[in-house]
Amino acid sequence: MDKFVINGRNKLYGEISVSGAKNAAVAIIPAVVLADEPCVIENLPKIKDVSVILSILKHMGAEVTFIDGDESRVRIDPTGITSHKVTCDKLVGDMRASYYLLGALLGKFGKALVPFPGGCSFCERPINLHLKAFETLGAACNILPTHIELMSDKLEGRQIYFDVVSVGATMNAMLAAVKVPGKTVIDRAAKEPHIVDLANFLNSMGANIKGAGTDVIKIRGVERLHSCTYSIIPDQIEAGTYMAAVAAAGGNVLIKDVIPEHLDSITAKLRDTGTIVEEYDEAVRVIREDELKSCNVKTMPHPGFPTDMQPQFVALLSTAHGRSRVMECVWESRFSYIPQLRKMGADIIENGNIAHIYGKQDLCGAKVHALDLRAGAAMVIAALAAYGTTEISDIRYIERGYEKIIEKLSSIGADIRRVTYKENVDE
Ligand code: UD1
Repeated sequence: MDKFVINGRNKLYGEISVSGAKNAAVAIIPAVVLADEPCVIENLPKIKDVSVILSILKHMGAEVTFIDGDESRVRIDPTGITSHKVTCDKLVGDMRASYYLLGALLGKFGKALVPFPGGCSFCERPINLHLKAFETLGAACNILPTHIELMSDKLEGRQIYFDVVSVGATMNAMLAAVKVPGKTVIDRAAKEPHIVDLANFLNSMGANIKGAGTDVIKIRGVERLHSCTYSIIPDQIEAGTYMAAVAAAGGNVLIKDVIPEHLDSITAKLRDTGTIVEEYDEAVRVIREDELKSCNVKTMPHPGFPTDMQPQFVALLSTAHGRSRVMECVWESRFSYIPQLRKMGADIIENGNIAHIYGKQDLCGAKVHALDLRAGAAMVIAALAAYGTTEISDIRYIERGYEKIIEKLSSIGADIRRVTYKENVDE
């Protein structure tokens, strides 16, 4: 087993580059299933979730080749995928986004049989809205003991209305509808940058999708999708995590290869804490010299403050001067990591979906766990700001979503290393 060992209080200086967006990549890769020809995808992040979804596609019969051995550029030939059944249960259970295979296979074959998805389980994650979208298009959905089965005689373009804004259900509805005859309208669609990225990718293959990034997405079904070369957008949450890390540790870092508009809500809240954020065409500079000020944060679907930045901000605000309030409005509960922050001295009281944070500057190192991907990122941020040494175990969660996190943070002056240890010996 490996853990991160971080000695805190080093200020961060220099430049850091952001990788391709995880949540776009894990939808775009399954979308290739819909094409009749090979596609090339560039700016892929080198993270566990991407290697798992590529392995699933290979298992299904796709040919997957890294171009010139570069893991950020992959050619996927889906023509060998001839069955609607996904049989690699273990791989599918390793990640949440494997549910995109439902929409992609339904769109390609008119039916799908996919094992239950896994992934970060910070709270219950239903898929009723995904199934509602498939049913609206004409599919019958059966929940089997270990699999989800979708069947259809004939799919037809229809109006899909979501009563909760869901990223995954919006993406799955797009995947299922893109080749369905007629016009599909998705009402109350999610507007996250990766929704727009998936639509742009599908349109590059010949789809006819309009309105992605607004509340209403309109799709005219096309008969076939062809090859394309497509570059994935930068990861908004990876960028936001490094912005929060610089704010927590102090320093001055240029965060490159980002789309600053995607970071607007994060930038606004960092500015509330007294952190300076300068915006350039494809970079942001984060400067934190003075004591951090408290602020209030409420998570919302895009363009609101992203829930996937909530744990990192709670960690950051634990080190700010004064009382902050963070309200989680996307997930029913997403505060299970707070006891880990308390081990480091954070003073936080939870009340339902609100965390009251009484900020202080003297967090201290402790032995903590990464409970999930973003909770793990929060531990890293707290550790960078804390006095002494923090050991973070269960780092496999962090590595699901952050490419080369040790190398990137070390390059700007963090004292972070990976240590292998024997389970039950020092834990
Ligand atoms: C995606 C992200 C995840 C992020 C979340 C919200 C991926 C792989 N994951 O997850 O990191 O935290 O968006 O930005 O992209 N809901 C239902 N029924 C459903 C689906 C969702 O009630 O069928 C509810 C959820 O319980 C939640 C809300 O809708 O309260 C938003 O969830 P959703 O946007 O669907 O999250 P995911 O797409 O699973």
